[in-house]
Amino acid sequence: IPGDAAWAAEIRRLAERRDAVLLAHNYQLPEIQDVADHTGDSLALSRIAAESTASTIVFCGVHFMAETAKILSPDKTVLIPDERAGCSLADSITAEDLRAWKADFVRAGEPEPVVVSYVNTTAEVKAETDVCCTSSNAVEVVRSIPEDRPVLFCPDQFLGAHVKRETGRENLHVWAGECHVHAGINGAELAERAGADPDAELFIHPECGCATSALYLAGDGTVDSDRVKILSTGGMLDAAHRTGASSVLVATEVGMLHQLRSAAPEVDFRAVNDRASCKYMKMITPAALLRCLTDNADEVRVAPETARRARSAVERMISIGQ
Ligand code: 13P
Ligand code: SF4
Repeated sequence: IPGDAAWAAEIRRLAERRDAVLLAHNYQLPEIQDVADHTGDSLALSRIAAESTASTIVFCGVHFMAETAKILSPDKTVLIPDERAGCSLADSITAEDLRAWKADFVRAGEPEPVVVSYVNTTAEVKAETDVCCTSSNAVEVVRSIPEDRPVLFCPDQFLGAHVKRETGRENLHVWAGECHVHAGINGAELAERAGADPDAELFIHPECGCATSALYLAGDGTVDSDRVKILSTGGMLDAAHRTGASSVLVATEVGMLHQLRSAAPEVDFRAVNDRASCKYMKMITPAALLRCLTDNADEVRVAPETARRARSAVERMISIGQ
């Protein structure tokens, strides 16, 4: 039965036989996270994929993550258990949109901008990008750019607003994209949950629609400002090990709760919105992973010229915020 102990043993046997490393994002189903060699956030998994000596990478996550691994390791076989696992945020900007945005900017008489793209983008968008970032190093990536150069940041408007607030940079221009899952975790819901549990800490992913509201709640005294933490999924896990709170309200995709609860079983982790489940992440089922390892499918391919143009932006991303 997919998901049981015999299934897990078979997955491990097949992975070993084909010299594959299994990587799982923090939003994956619990049984997928538990069978993987490594579970982590986008940045940690990109780094592991780049350093791995295995000849095959099986990426249990969404398509742009597997593509990023292929860009970094063009000679390795990269598999994803279901290639239909897309991302609504990555779909919110195309390479053509980005080229037009840059051209309009320069045509308006502005200096040549530096393009920063969130890793949640297609390989074609990365090929038009100067430096990629993830939610855990976006602020550091933007700080690494000389102050006098304008920055075009895409595609997530909420992460962009967070970076703008943290860096205080007026010349940072943000694309109006969003992730349907995170955008749906709204400020009203957060205010209600935080009001009902005044001692809880808040772990908020910067892609959330409620990230700005969380800071307002801190500003108007509804919650203590030192209890509001804007964190990547990897950052949430680190913070879980250190939290002194007995309960934590978590604003991100619900798959994250599995890692948090295993890391700190004594803490009561609760979702701000328990309907915040990413249908794409959940396409990587136990049956799909088994099929992937038995049929060597689905293989992720990136056109070599696109990969070549995208590589330096991805390599800069993994070198910043070590
Ligand atoms: P991180 O794991 O980098 O925080 O990314 C969250 C996300 O939405 C990935 O799709
Ligand atoms: Fe994309 Fe949002 Fe799903 Fe992450 S949670 S993969 S950003 S649609």
